[in-house]
Amino acid sequence: MLNDKILSGKHILIGVCGGIAAYKIPDLISKLVKLGAEVKVVMTHAATEFVTPLTFQSMSHNPVAVDMFSEPVAWEIRHISLAQWTDTLLVAPATANMIGKLANGIADDMLSTVAMATRSQVLVAPAMNTAMYENAATQANIKTLKERGIKIIEPAEGRLACGDSGKGKLADIDVLLNSLIYEVAFEKDLSGKKVLVTAGATVESVDPVRFLTNHSSGKMGIEIARAAQLRGADVTLVCGNISVETPMGVNVIKVKSAQDMFDACVSHQKEADVIIKAAAVADFKPKDVADNKIKKEGGFEGVIRLEQNPDILKYLGEHKPAGQILVGFCMETQDLIENAKKKLDKKNLDMIVANSLTEPNAGFKSDTNTVTILDKTGKIEALDNMSKFCVAQELLDRVVKCL
Ligand code: CTP
Repeated sequence: MLNDKILSGKHILIGVCGGIAAYKIPDLISKLVKLGAEVKVVMTHAATEFVTPLTFQSMSHNPVAVDMFSEPVAWEIRHISLAQWTDTLLVAPATANMIGKLANGIADDMLSTVAMATRSQVLVAPAMNTAMYENAATQANIKTLKERGIKIIEPAEGRLACGDSGKGKLADIDVLLNSLIYEVAFEKDLSGKKVLVTAGATVESVDPVRFLTNHSSGKMGIEIARAAQLRGADVTLVCGNISVETPMGVNVIKVKSAQDMFDACVSHQKEADVIIKAAAVADFKPKDVADNKIKKEGGFEGVIRLEQNPDILKYLGEHKPAGQILVGFCMETQDLIENAKKKLDKKNLDMIVANSLTEPNAGFKSDTNTVTILDKTGKIEALDNMSKFCVAQELLDRVVKCL
């Protein structure tokens, strides 16, 4: 996802207050700009003691606003034009003082005035000493802001700059980034929908040391879960072995074997509006799992007897509640479309995403994929090679139409 310009055309205003965590904000701006956003910065005077306006100007490629009464770049009433320009305002780090001003309608500097003048969503990321954060006045002010629809990005716990340990650290930059992406990037066309996604490889034990698995990295399923969450869905991700981090805001259930994945899927099947099964499930498992490590010199004959795992998708198709959308994947090395059609039919799917292992820049471990989407009406759409996040968006566009 981080290579896609998902914030292209979006306007993000960052309000920086005077706290030590201000030094982390240039990194956030860099990430936003890489995603295509246009970023502007408003600083309080105290913030300029920690990081210079020039730093933010260089990172955002835009002038930085600090003074209410300095010469504007063009004729404009700057606090109003910034307030109207932005799609969302993030105040980070937000000091106790600024939180107090926002809660009590005090507009006595550029940032508090812009915050009051904007009709866009305001996000506030507090960062301060634990005692200040826990102070009754701060907590009451935060409660007031929440009641007025301002979103608070909770501070993290840890060692603070003052030497104390506790709650009050600015939330991780990736949490701020994800909150901004969630706010502005996508229409919430899956809002109110429950989406169950599976990802990664199942793992079947041979003995306490060895196991059977496959090359799946889980990237495709992870990007589907991420995209669905960013489109407003309540996402549950059942994942086996994966080599990437799970997305924020998603309910993750870690499983090992195909049987574990089967149990997790079946227990969430009924409530799901959409199920997308991107996991690479092991079709077979060892018939007998040795209790102890199999030794070279213990009469091992070199044979591991296998038995079939349950076909999870087939079971879900056979027990599909009315109105639910069920999507499968299929990974082939030959006769891609023919095999995909058979699986679509046999497993009672609404859609199947077919990918060939022989395509360049596609399949296991790659960040991109080339897929063909088939649906039960007989439609077959071959998509170009694109990032797995974009494949996920294409798939969800089609799911939304079915819903
Ligand atoms: N699948 C599943 N349970 C299994 C095997 C596969 O739920 N035991 C799901 C996969 O998650 C995928 C779809 O079925 O969504 C197709 O998987 P694939 O491995 O392509 O095909 P199989 O049905 O296993 O058939 P084959 O291995 O013979 O190609």
